Amino acid sequence: SKTHHLNWTVENKRVTRNCATVDIPTVNGRFPGPTIEVNEGDTLVIKVTNKQQYPVTLHWHGIKQFRTNYADGPAHITQCPIQPNKSYIYEFTLNDQRGTFFWHAHINWMRSTVHGALIVHPKKKAPYGAVAGEIPIIMGEFFGLHPNVVELGFINTLAPVENRTTLASTINGFPGPFFNCSSATKVYKVKKGKTYLLRIIDAALNSDHYFAVANHSVTVVAADGNYLKPFKTSYVPMSPGQTTDVLIKFDKPCGRYYFGMNAGPVPAVGAPPPFVPAVSIFQYEGADSTTSPVVPVFPDRFNLAPLNAYHAKLKNLNRYHLPRKVDKSFLYVVGISSVNCIPSENCTRKIAGTMQNMTFDDPVGTSILEAYASGAKGVYTTDFPAQPPSLNVNTTRPDPHYLAGNRGTRLRELKFGSVVQVVLQNFFAFGVLDHPFHLHGHDFYVVGQNYGVYDPVQSPKTFNLKDPPLFNTIGVPNGGWVALRFKANNPGVWLLHCHFERHKSWGMHQVFITRNGVGKSQTLPGPKHPLPKCT
Ligand code: C2O
Ligand code: CU
Repeated sequence: SKTHHLNWTVENKRVTRNCATVDIPTVNGRFPGPTIEVNEGDTLVIKVTNKQQYPVTLHWHGIKQFRTNYADGPAHITQCPIQPNKSYIYEFTLNDQRGTFFWHAHINWMRSTVHGALIVHPKKKAPYGAVAGEIPIIMGEFFGLHPNVVELGFINTLAPVENRTTLASTINGFPGPFFNCSSATKVYKVKKGKTYLLRIIDAALNSDHYFAVANHSVTVVAADGNYLKPFKTSYVPMSPGQTTDVLIKFDKPCGRYYFGMNAGPVPAVGAPPPFVPAVSIFQYEGADSTTSPVVPVFPDRFNLAPLNAYHAKLKNLNRYHLPRKVDKSFLYVVGISSVNCIPSENCTRKIAGTMQNMTFDDPVGTSILEAYASGAKGVYTTDFPAQPPSLNVNTTRPDPHYLAGNRGTRLRELKFGSVVQVVLQNFFAFGVLDHPFHLHGHDFYVVGQNYGVYDPVQSPKTFNLKDPPLFNTIGVPNGGWVALRFKANNPGVWLLHCHFERHKSWGMHQVFITRNGVGKSQTLPGPKHPLPKCT
């Protein structure tokens, strides 16, 4: 195994898309950012220097950071942000993980432009065999404004402040030809008759998507860095934070085919995503490059059937090895509240993301991890409720129990080695939002998922305890629930959050602290490099 030393500068770069020119934060002036390609077992040492005006952190999405919690990156959770003209060195090893991941800024909305692919090639041959080529495909958004400016508007209101004439979905940074004043359409040359691996990464901020290729179906082989039982499909639903690896055989008539993403499965009310598909072109070698490409068909985004049918096919390729006995169960109700203000408070935040009717306040001036490691008092408490205030969750309209949110920095501690089950129940909020929840530091088995209200007696009878898929991000359906299981075998402070940036910035997150176990291998070492100071 190898150690890779990278020198990264977060700096502004002037970018023009769809006739909007804007200075956006980037890594080394690249949008999307540099691709990291390493082998399983390699070590990354990435020196990040901040040369733009906003504080920044980087996160390595899906990487477990086993005993390297200080390199995880969420601002005020595992580190203070890197202030302008300061640096921090992220060092971690890619052990026991392989596949498609990504890295992104983990502060404000800078993930919008500060992101890139992180590809870990497996030690052992991939079960799907050799491919003729690999193509990373990053789904994103282009606002036409600095992402932090867009965020500021969202914090206080549902009204979108992005430039609506230039808002676009993007494939590897390009919106493609269907938007107003569109610029270049990217062309990817492929060989007829060959099979390629597409590494699809959803780095977008605020909407779900469908991926599709005109006239071609794909075979899903992995998601979130875990192999799946392969299955064929003509579309791939993606939520922010998810990655999906698919095989595609270019066995159609020599020609040009659009591929890309469209909004879906359901639009978020108040935040209509761009309903125009973002596409690039697969061009067979030898095809006439003046012919107009075939346009893909995306599933109807108002119909949940295609989404549900896809989810039913997700099965772990490998044998299930999580102990069936659950040591600790949590039922968290997640949602959006519109009146998260205590009347006596002079509240500025009108909309809140809530879990258990509570909005998580990040600590000020420190991080949870530093407070935990130093034993500092008064930064957080460990009494986050394991159950919601009411099990009488109404999934068809806002429940009064969940309309008057509280705020605080309350979290949960876990015993090292314990098997944890978290059921996330999504109650009705505004329209039809799902919540793509992401857990840091672990993969989790999705043992159950359904619409309606979780029933602690009946619902577990429907669980898949044979071959449940292993993910790090899963959509909690609107008016429905998912049940996750993981082993708390990674000592440290781990964020659980909705990967829609608008919900995250409204406070829809929680933290688990896994306490040290016995002996060196179960203990979190101190930081490898000096941590940034908060000011
Ligand atoms: Cu992709 Cu907490 O992040
Ligand atoms: Cu959400």
